[in-house]
Amino acid sequence: MLEYAQFGSPQQVSFFFFEGFVSRKQKKSFPGNASRDRLRNIMKKIGILNGVNLNRLGLREPEIYGKTTLDDLEHNLQETAKTLGVEIECFQSNHEGALVDKICEWADRGFSGIVFNPGAFTHTSIALRDCIAGCAVPTIEVHISNVYSREEFRHTSLIAPVCSGQIAGLGLAGYDLALFWHANVNGALLVTQ
Ligand code: DQA
Repeated sequence: MLEYAQFGSPQQVSFFFFEGFVSRKQKKSFPGNASRDRLRNIMKKIGILNGVNLNRLGLREPEIYGKTTLDDLEHNLQETAKTLGVEIECFQSNHEGALVDKICEWADRGFSGIVFNPGAFTHTSIALRDCIAGCAVPTIEVHISNVYSREEFRHTSLIAPVCSGQIAGLGLAGYDLALFWHANVNGALLVTQ
């Protein structure tokens, strides 16, 4: 169980309920838990990428983004990763080029997935979109806030069309959910072949 202090009241995220996300067909095709976890440990490295202004989490508009800092978020995600049996690396930058370089580096090092909150670059960056499309590492776009209930300029993502999916508005739990998908669903059938 992980505990997040966000949006004023603590929320608990249990990974037991995550089992529900895996379809019966995928569950059937999994080998025994032990060998599944062993294979997963060998295979899965997942990057947690945060873009512009996300270094200010906890200080920046806490009524929208909560009071948890980026350090705390990354620490909690390390705990989630242990529970899921995957390895993660975290990186944040306010610079578009540095984010592009990191995605390429993770692709070259064989990462199996990326969880990406690009911040405001979501709405502006063709460079990041091209990078994700070109590197072809399955990426989930995450937004802490529900961008669709906010200003109109936040309703357009240049990144989402080249991602496997998008999670918006679920607070910091969105990162855990994306990590769960990478750990258990993305490539799950390949692991068993
Ligand atoms: C955000 C939403 C973006 O529109 C905004 O520019 C951010 C944070 C989110 O996590 O809700 O910086 O990506």
